This record gives sequence, C-alpha cells and structure tokens, in this order.
Amino acid sequence: MKRLALVGAGLIGREHAALIAAHPGASLEAICDPSPEAAEFARRMGAPFHADLQSMLDATRPDGVIVALPNQLHEPVALACIERGLPCLVEKPVADTIEAAFAIVQASERTGVPVLVGHQRRHSPDIRAAKSTIDEGALGPLVAVNGMTLFDKPDGYFVDWRRKAGGGVLLINLIHDIDVLRWLVGEIESVRAFTSSAVRGFEVEDTASLAIRFENGALGTFVISDAAVSPWAWEYTSGQALYHPTQPGACLFLAGRKASLSVSDLYLWRHDKPDGDWQDPLLREHRAPERSRTYVNQLDHFLDVIGGDAAPLTSARDGMLTLAATLAVARAGRENRSVTVAEMLAEAGALS
Ligand SMILES: NC(=O)c1ccc[n+]([C@@H]2O[C@H](COP(=O)([O-])OP(=O)(O)OC[C@H]3O[C@@H](n4cnc5c(N)ncnc54)[C@H](O)[C@@H]3O)[C@@H](O)[C@H]2O)c1
Repeated sequence: MKRLALVGAGLIGREHAALIAAHPGASLEAICDPSPEAAEFARRMGAPFHADLQSMLDATRPDGVIVALPNQLHEPVALACIERGLPCLVEKPVADTIEAAFAIVQASERTGVPVLVGHQRRHSPDIRAAKSTIDEGALGPLVAVNGMTLFDKPDGYFVDWRRKAGGGVLLINLIHDIDVLRWLVGEIESVRAFTSSAVRGFEVEDTASLAIRFENGALGTFVISDAAVSPWAWEYTSGQALYHPTQPGACLFLAGRKASLSVSDLYLWRHDKPDGDWQDPLLREHRAPERSRTYVNQLDHFLDVIGGDAAPLTSARDGMLTLAATLAVARAGRENRSVTVAEMLAEAGALS
C-alpha cells in the first residue's frame, strides 16, 4: 500500500483524490490546500487536512505526492518534494516557464528522485495502441500527420486567468496534443503557426493552426480551437476524458510509408500487396484497444514509479520539452515566423 499526499484540491485535485480513494494499492494520507472548500472536501474524504506544505510533509511522511496546483506553484512544491526524496506526480504543464521546468529537471536528475508529469494521454488505451502500432513498424517510417482539437467551451469557463497569458487554448489544451505528437511521432524541431483571438476577443488565443517539422523528417499539421462545435478532439473520441461525452471517431491521422492509422478509432489502412500504390485498393483493419481507464492507468504507473518498478513515462524533462514546443507555437504565431524548440530552450538556459 502506497501512502499518497495531495497538494491542491481544486478541479483536478479532487479527481486525483477520488482515484486514490478507489485504488486498492493506495491510500490518501493527507490533503494540503489553504482554501476552506478544500478543508471541507478533506473532511468528506476522511483525509487529514493541512494548510501548509511543510507541516503536512513533516506530519504525514508520504511515499509520494500529487501536485495539482496552479501552474506557477508547481516548481517550488516539486522542488520541496524532491528535496525530501519524495517522488511526485506533477500536473501539466510541469511548470509555468521553461526556466522553472528546467529547475525541476535538474533537481530530479541530480537526486534521482522521479517526477511524473500529468500528461495522462500517454496512459490512454488508444494512444498506447497507436504507440505500439508505430513501434512494431506497422506504419513504416512516418511521413505526415494531421490532427485536430476542436470543441466549444462555455462562456462561464473563461474566468479571469483563462482570458490572460498562460490561460489560452495553447497552454491549457494544445500542450496535451503536443505531448502526444512528441510521444508518437518524435521530437519536434520547429513550428510555424497562425494564432487568433478573433472569435472570443480575449487577450489569449482561442484558435490556432500549426505546421510542424519533426526531427526525424516527418511533417505535421494541427488545428485547435476552444470556440468551434465539432466531435474532433481526443476528449470526445477516446471516451477517456473526465468531463466530456464520448463521440467515437478520430482526431489524429498518422501516415507512414507502409500504412496509416487513425486515432482514437484505430483503423489501420494498408495495401493488400507489398508493391501496392495509389491505384490499388486499401484494406482497412481495426485494432481494438485494451479496456482500461487513462487516469487509473496513470495512477497505477505512479505507484510503480514510487516503488522503483518503472521510470516515469513522462519525466520532468519530457514535460519541459513539451512545454518548450508549446511555447514555440505561441511565439511562432506572435512573431509570424518559424520557431525552433532549440531556440526556446537556449533562451531559457535549458539546453543541457
Ligand atoms: N491533466 C489534466 O487533465 C488536467 C485537468 C485540469 C487541470 N490540470 C492541471 O492541474 C493543475 C490544477 O488545475 P485545476 O484546474 O485543478 O485548478 P484549480 O484552481 O481548480 O485548483 C487549484 C487548487 O490549488 C489550491 N492552492 C492554491 N495555492 C495553494 C498552495 N500554496 N498550497 C496548496 N494548495 C493551493 C487552490 O486553493 C485550489 O483548490 C493545473 O496545473 C492544471 O493545468 C490538469
């Protein structure tokens, strides 16, 4: 049984608390959050409550910590956990800046204390199936990818911080897509982007279109908007998101030299003979995903990481590279030019 502490009992923190409470291999030993609502939530969950991190860590001595705080607090709390040798699951983005992310990377890599970043899609059955299909060589070398995250958020969602820098569709949503693209296709070398705030009129973007060059030579395109009605988003197609209905279908298309795959519906398209070309029919084969739940899988994995049985699937360094590529998109849109991930890392002193 692994004893877990939760820091931050807001929207996603409460989901983590419920997942821990339902897990046979984990116990929720304490909740830390200064808000009165969190105190009441802790009482309902039957978990000791602390308003202060250090006092919680002194009193509780957990085996691992889940950090579900506002982004700018990820760095100090993750560093405090690492200092005490406590593995932590830090929600995405790993930090609010590349510099802060790099501080976590350095602390984790220096001490060997593992940090798992909450990019939960890597634990999703559809993404797992896509990853193993690619890794087994069924698609051949990837040539081009195309993806979409298009949904409509309600007006009430846009409280103050979500209208300002750091709160737009890029850092809240696209960061998950970027992480999946890095995981499935490979490291991103550079991006170009158009970004727009024309629909909602906020300081932050509501819509973006991207062109992506991967280090392995594959090219990609992606469109994202939080102001468009559509079923083309992983939140719908995977059936794995916490707060959204399931709309079976695809939101990501991966095309290789041998075959192509749509995700989340996992149809693989290939020629029926090895020397087939565009004048020959394509066969469609369905690849059924395993039946499991993303967030449960992520918690299972975190428990393995705590036990020393697995390295984080999304390490602090992964989280930093995903953040850097996402911030590169924002800059590419602002400055109307191609931006490399290396330039983002160099500027933050995070190339080593
Ligand atoms: N992976 C996902 O699917 C997913 C979904 C939603 C949010 N997130 C991420 O999770 C994090 C939290 O997001 P949220 O939507 O739950 O935010 P939220 O605002 O609902 O909750 C944040 C909580 O942190 C508490 N808090 C603030 N300062 C604190 C401190 N010093 N010590 C302890 N607690 C403190 C607040 O009282 C609040 O309860 C963000 O990084 C966000 O990007 C991830």
